[in-house]
Amino acid sequence: MPSSRRPRTDRRAPARFDLSLSENPFPPLPSVLDAVNIEMARSNRYPEFLPRRLPALIAGHLGVQPDQVVVGAGATGVAMQIMQALTAPGAELVTSSPTFDGYPIMAEMAGLNLVPVPLNASGDQDADGLRRAVSKRTALLVLCRPHNPTGTVLPADEVRRFLAAIPNRIPVILDEAYVEFLAEPDQLDLPALLRRHANLIVLRTFSKAYGLAGLRIGYAFGGHDLMGRIRRLQLPFGMATAAVAAVAASYAAAPELGARVRRITAAREHLRNTLCARGTAVPRSHANFLYLPGPGTATALRRAGITAKCYADGSARIAVGDPAADLAVVEALSERVTHR
Ligand SMILES: Cc1ncc(COP(=O)(O)O)c(C=O)c1O
Repeated sequence: MPSSRRPRTDRRAPARFDLSLSENPFPPLPSVLDAVNIEMARSNRYPEFLPRRLPALIAGHLGVQPDQVVVGAGATGVAMQIMQALTAPGAELVTSSPTFDGYPIMAEMAGLNLVPVPLNASGDQDADGLRRAVSKRTALLVLCRPHNPTGTVLPADEVRRFLAAIPNRIPVILDEAYVEFLAEPDQLDLPALLRRHANLIVLRTFSKAYGLAGLRIGYAFGGHDLMGRIRRLQLPFGMATAAVAAVAASYAAAPELGARVRRITAAREHLRNTLCARGTAVPRSHANFLYLPGPGTATALRRAGITAKCYADGSARIAVGDPAADLAVVEALSERVTHR
């Protein structure tokens, strides 16, 4: 048979599931969609010149003052604004590696030199390593809790020790993009931390637990001075009017959203237990994704038509919570274990 006609045994299956972006598997709740649609009908009008209603709404929910909240196009937009407002090109950004892909990209856009600190053996952030990486050139630190991609959390006492050891002049982003998936006892006492550390900025998003990634709504909160400096770079007309409606409707739907979060975390635990029982050592995750160590994991998923976030050593991160996708992951990795 001419080689061009031979069946290709390595042919890639078309992607059946895209689990690469840690998205929420559920579409927006009907009540949230209705609220957004009402605003969409008024889309010929501009939103507020500078957002006031959205920060006030979020501040009321958090129990802080409106001027302590800055909103933006996802946590990504807010993080970029923080870099532009608080750092200068040539300075250093210290963070763990691997981390959320956005940080290296934004650091480059802001002209910052990234100082990557490897994760420790248990896949968590190395708080001492991060502290040692701080120099007089450091302009910003980022700590994710839960961490992306491993889903692990730095214990609260380590966070406290870490913040106490960082000079006040260096802003610290505590990235809590997945905080809603974190069990109550693992939550930090943020009011106490914010009182003690004027350099602390908490970063959050409506993309993950709230399932509104496409609407691009993120926010940061912290001390009045720091947030005031960040707000100076607020883009005029930069937040869609629908964001206020989406957030208000989401807060009103807290019980339904909470039930979805519980379904996702239950599915995460079930999937992790199944994979561990079948020989894949999956670290305990506190987010809506699992980190599946390599080698070979990324390839096995790809062959099964599952798009994951892949790492150089063959590991992969997958979003959880879609029962069909979770099952496909188990099948893909079980085959890999049997064929090894
Ligand atoms: C740790 C972390 N921070 C921030 C973000 C950005 O989220 P968004 O820009 O969608 O709000 C992500 C997205 O995956 C993330 O994983």
